[in-house]
Amino acid sequence: MAIVTVPAEARRITDPAEIKEFLNAHGLRYEVWPLEDRVDPAAPAETILAAYAPELDQLKQEGGFVTADVIDIYPDTPNLDAMLEKFNKEHTHTEDEVRYILQGHGVFHINPGDRPVFAIEVWGGDLISVPLGTRHWFDLCGDRRIRAIRLFQDTSGWTPHYLPDGVHPGYEPLCFGPTWLPAVGKADS
Ligand code: LAC
Ligand code: NI
Repeated sequence: MAIVTVPAEARRITDPAEIKEFLNAHGLRYEVWPLEDRVDPAAPAETILAAYAPELDQLKQEGGFVTADVIDIYPDTPNLDAMLEKFNKEHTHTEDEVRYILQGHGVFHINPGDRPVFAIEVWGGDLISVPLGTRHWFDLCGDRRIRAIRLFQDTSGWTPHYLPDGVHPGYEPLCFGPTWLPAVGKADS
């Protein structure tokens, strides 16, 4: 279950229906899919893809996606920092960025241009689709762990197109999910 933050408005949205409404109003798709009761999120990639085949087939039909994979990132993934550097700067893609989170955490920042930048922290069970051309960037949270299903229209590669006027340096990749509250010492205050 995601958390949306709008730094410029000191606004945080935690209510699922409100999050969906906010994201849909900004043109993003957001859904919570059943996780543990469908498949062990730690299962092998083929098992995961098979378990979600009906939903993935539907997304493929709707969005013209041709392939799906499972990306697995751990704190000790080789060249992790170099990999993250590719996506933590404002960029766009020429196809929708569809991700279903299985394990770990991540933060997408979205720059709508005509409205304030907002952040979406996602974790297990969250499906997000960032429409093509949307300015965004991505960071991991403190666990430096994410496992997600990705969908692709173009099998030739996943390419970020950087913007010369990216605003990412003005935003901290903060994570606020339940996992992080004790760590920042704010859980009971
Ligand atoms: C991507 C994300 C992480 O482009 O923005 O894969
Ligand atoms: Ni991206």
